[in-house]
Amino acid sequence: MRVVHVASEVFPFSRSGGLGDVLGALPPVQARQGAEAVVLSPWYADLAGAPEEVWRGVVPGVGPVRVGRLTQDGVQFLFLGLEEFGRPGLYHDDDVWRFSQFGRAALPVLRALDLMPDVLHGHDWQAGLVVAHARLLGLRSVFTVHNLQYQGRWNLPEAAAWLGLPGGMLGVEGVEYHGDVNLMKAGLVFADHVTTVSPQYAQEITTAQYGEGLDGVMVRLTLEGRLSGILNGLDQDRWDPRTDPDIPTYADLKGKAAATAALRAELGLDGAPVLGTVSRLAGQKGMDLLLEALPDLTQDWNVVVLGGGDPLLTAAFRGWAQHPRVTFAEGLQEGLAHRIYAGAQAFAMPSRFEPCGLSQMIAMRYGTLPVVRETGGLVDTVPHDVGFRFSEATPEALTGAAAQALAALNDPAGWAARVERAMNLEFSWAGPAAQYLDLYRRVAGPAA
Ligand code: GLC
Repeated sequence: MRVVHVASEVFPFSRSGGLGDVLGALPPVQARQGAEAVVLSPWYADLAGAPEEVWRGVVPGVGPVRVGRLTQDGVQFLFLGLEEFGRPGLYHDDDVWRFSQFGRAALPVLRALDLMPDVLHGHDWQAGLVVAHARLLGLRSVFTVHNLQYQGRWNLPEAAAWLGLPGGMLGVEGVEYHGDVNLMKAGLVFADHVTTVSPQYAQEITTAQYGEGLDGVMVRLTLEGRLSGILNGLDQDRWDPRTDPDIPTYADLKGKAAATAALRAELGLDGAPVLGTVSRLAGQKGMDLLLEALPDLTQDWNVVVLGGGDPLLTAAFRGWAQHPRVTFAEGLQEGLAHRIYAGAQAFAMPSRFEPCGLSQMIAMRYGTLPVVRETGGLVDTVPHDVGFRFSEATPEALTGAAAQALAALNDPAGWAARVERAMNLEFSWAGPAAQYLDLYRRVAGPAA
């Protein structure tokens, strides 16, 4: 069974968030389980790694293309180089154009390298066009939705020429969506099977509240038995408080106290408990709710926020950083992220929607108890006897759950039991990887 994953980012070579983490962690586990796993992603100018060039040529409709390869953990990571990826950074305003070129070049390149898949596995809208082309060639495919909010839309009259698809695939049964091309929809309608990254989110996206305008498509997929949820795992070697080089390592709550003390010292925190978060600053993540809750939360907690993103939210957190009980650190700071996961006692994730979420799994592995909104993967991963859950997307509901956490913290034996349960939860990739392999076999039929 050869699976070729197609995605816009892959850790550790390129990453902006959880998507990259999944592409870095899942394929090596599939390789260990006996599949041949290949990952195809863009050869960005600032890729972290130096692939060896293995192919160079001209793809009709696209132009000059080169392909680099790195083999690691039993997986071939292929990097597709286009002029469009020559600028620094992963994402830009002209991404629909850029990933259309990527989508057209992908299969010709795989053919040239003699790496055509038994199952093509596309991830998020940037891979939607590859899935459509796979359908044209009669290749089997799976498409995974990591975040439905970003869909890759552009006006149809202009974009039609970019896609290399026959007219019959451009209509409302195909890529068309309210007069636009929608590359997420291309992936949804042309894949043999669609998954999303938690069972709970697979249900939620069939509703108007969470469907981002594609709930109708999701309902149809569900009725056809073509939509399911497979919960993400966690790379438990990368995230392990017993071996993590960025923290004072520990294996239990007693040891964790040293990590908390170190974080207090580093950030100059007072004796109040520590509520941390490491997050993109975005409405999706409910960071505006956290902001509005700060006046209440800071009565009882030191609040430590690491993240970047939305300029307005960033400016608001910067303003709050004057407060003695608020620490705000900006951007992607890998080491500090680890020290927050380890040193905080509770971890806030007030997400408006959360397809899976990885931070809550990391936090629990580090014995840091999540305070989460009940949505998507947070429902599937945070047990009631470990974390603190709330349902309304309001600052009051968040503060209420934080108050429960505080009460629990004041019962040391109860807290210790929760922490122990948290640290013993199993989120390995072995289970999900096996589920994907089963799905590939169903999709590909007995021959593969
Ligand atoms: C996106 C989602 C997040 C999920 C990740 C990996 O970043 O927002 O919930 O964990 O993809 O699937």
